[in-house]
Amino acid sequence: NSATAFAPASIGNVAVGFDVLGHSFQTIGDRVTARRIAEPGVRIASIGGLVCDLPREPEKNTAGMAVLSMVRDLKLDFGIELEIEKGIPLGSGLGGSAASAVAGVVAANALLPKSLTKLELLKFAMKGEEVASGSVHVDNIAPSLFGGLVLTVGIDNPNVKQIPVPPSVRCVLVHPHMTLSTRAAREILNRSIDLSNVIWQSANLAGFLTGCFTGDLRLIRESLEDVIIEPQRKVLIPGFQAVKDAALKHGALGCSISGAGPTVFAWCEEPQATAIRDAMVAAFAAYKLDSDAWISTLD
Ligand code: HSE
Repeated sequence: NSATAFAPASIGNVAVGFDVLGHSFQTIGDRVTARRIAEPGVRIASIGGLVCDLPREPEKNTAGMAVLSMVRDLKLDFGIELEIEKGIPLGSGLGGSAASAVAGVVAANALLPKSLTKLELLKFAMKGEEVASGSVHVDNIAPSLFGGLVLTVGIDNPNVKQIPVPPSVRCVLVHPHMTLSTRAAREILNRSIDLSNVIWQSANLAGFLTGCFTGDLRLIRESLEDVIIEPQRKVLIPGFQAVKDAALKHGALGCSISGAGPTVFAWCEEPQATAIRDAMVAAFAAYKLDSDAWISTLD
């Protein structure tokens, strides 16, 4: 009586939707196996893959806490044992904690007498994400669970909307070999923002979503720009500006920080993807940073 689920990595914010917009990146992800056990509660049997030194106490582990909140809330008369296989590097800005929480609740859901909806699973996965980052944001959880480009409005009763993306669009991800803590990258952010930047960013978010819905690549190019968060965070990533310039020079529609970083993403059309990826990797190398890079469709 066991089930395995895969949950993809995700790009939080997508430059213009801080904490509310994200998209999945199916090429990499985490895998969790849930097994029904007689002993009540949650037990973490193993953690493997790219990251092994994560907490084994369910309350301190993102997948553990997500499934534990499910077991408690549903008052299950059995327990669940988890095996976690990490495919997403830690502290990379690729939504690794969200992916483990999502894979955990999806696998556990298969063991329930009556399965839950994705929206119900989202709420349990959020309990896991909270353990990792100390804050409630859904821009990684929602796309990792639903797939594609996802906008989430509201926290207590979230409305989750999947946004269509023009089929020629690809995402290039470049992960420099360094880590950043989401917590620290949130703490440096200013609490007050200049009104003109709020207006500019609102226009960009509206323009970006409209461009996606209407398949207007020119509008996406015009609006895929973060004028509020990226200017504050880019100092945390050596070579960021050079990497972004390289991506734009090779035809990217836009380039920014994935989630809290240090991974950098670029949106582009399929024919330019390889050249953009190589240019971004070379730009990080000039700052003595080795990196891994991937290209994916937006499904
Ligand atoms: N929206 C969050 C942030 C995502 O940028 O802090 C973290 O992955």
